[in-house]
Amino acid sequence: MHDMRFTIPGQDLNREPFAVKIPDFQKKSEVMITDKGYKCRITNIVPLSDLERLFQLRIIDPLEREVFNFRPGQFLMLEIPGYGESPISISSSTSNHEFIELCIRKAGHVTSALFEARQGAFVSVRGPFGTAFPMAEMQGHNVLLIAGGLGIAPMRAPLFWINDHRDKYRDVFLLYGAKEPSQMLFTYQFEEWKKVSHVQMSTIVEKPDESWTGRSGMITALLDEFTFDPKDTYAIVCGPPVMFKFVCSHLDRLGIPMNRMFVSLERRMHCGMGKCCRCMVGSTFTCLDGPVFDYWSVMNLKEAI
Ligand SMILES: Cc1cc2nc3c(=O)[nH]c(=O)nc-3n(C[C@H](O)[C@H](O)[C@H](O)COP(=O)(O)OP(=O)(O)OC[C@H]3O[C@@H](n4cnc5c(N)ncnc54)[C@H](O)[C@@H]3O)c2cc1C
Ligand code: FES
Repeated sequence: MHDMRFTIPGQDLNREPFAVKIPDFQKKSEVMITDKGYKCRITNIVPLSDLERLFQLRIIDPLEREVFNFRPGQFLMLEIPGYGESPISISSSTSNHEFIELCIRKAGHVTSALFEARQGAFVSVRGPFGTAFPMAEMQGHNVLLIAGGLGIAPMRAPLFWINDHRDKYRDVFLLYGAKEPSQMLFTYQFEEWKKVSHVQMSTIVEKPDESWTGRSGMITALLDEFTFDPKDTYAIVCGPPVMFKFVCSHLDRLGIPMNRMFVSLERRMHCGMGKCCRCMVGSTFTCLDGPVFDYWSVMNLKEAI
């Protein structure tokens, strides 16, 4: 029987089978199947800023490495033995089975321990968990990717997905804003994203310094640079929750329907799979029903942002 606790008013639960798959608690195997742990080795660490680093993890078991699969927008529970677990978005390409990339900000207990780790160290991941961006539904349309600060981390998986299936999408725009130039991540990949992925890209910072020659201000200012038909456009917005409100309201004013805007919500999580209730917003589990939600559903979720 369908469990009404998981129904969000206004959400089209038939939107995309994978993104909205609601675990049936009569079939625990559906939930447990994703609760798989993988032992990994840190193969590379790329410093991105004072606070953020890109960690490349390689699943040690070759068979597990081959079968590990995820969809853009999903997250893993990263475990540092002896310290605990944290939910982290998968920041790599779904087609890359050689390694998993996680872009991590040093925030507290677990992430600080990770920043002490060196290349070759062992960590574990569980997952993948959560809903995904509806990449299939977006096919044949323009796609706006709007990232603020660390929001570029979950944005890389849909960006790589689009690159892998570029002919299936129309115009793709990547708008990226950071507080300061030094906080802008992945600058070394910008040219590649523009030339290889054929993405129209623009960046902006709130507080420019003498090194910055680009635009300054709020990220919504970048929307003036591009022409697109809002009725034929989907948007993915990733960043701090405060950004959702002003970016999505702006997109709404431009005419993009709210159920075509997708955001990734963050909550404190413990199990990642609907057992501990730590991530609940009302009767909605951020880990199972999210983290990816369409903005219409978020508007109907009290205290979601
Ligand atoms: C679905 C999801 C995806 C995420 N993806 C990434 C990612 O790609 N990269 C990344 O660096 N971080 C990501 N985070 C955030 C990350 O999980 C938290 O920063 C986490 O707490 C870090 O663990 P910690 O033990 O180091 O910090 P903690 O010791 O747990 O906490 C450090 C500080 O962060 C605050 N905090 C903890 N969790 C959250 C949260 N979920 N939302 C808001 N504040 C929080 C705490 O109140 C505290 O002030 C994600 C979170 C979620 C839910
Ligand atoms: S994190 Fe435990 S129920 Fe969502």
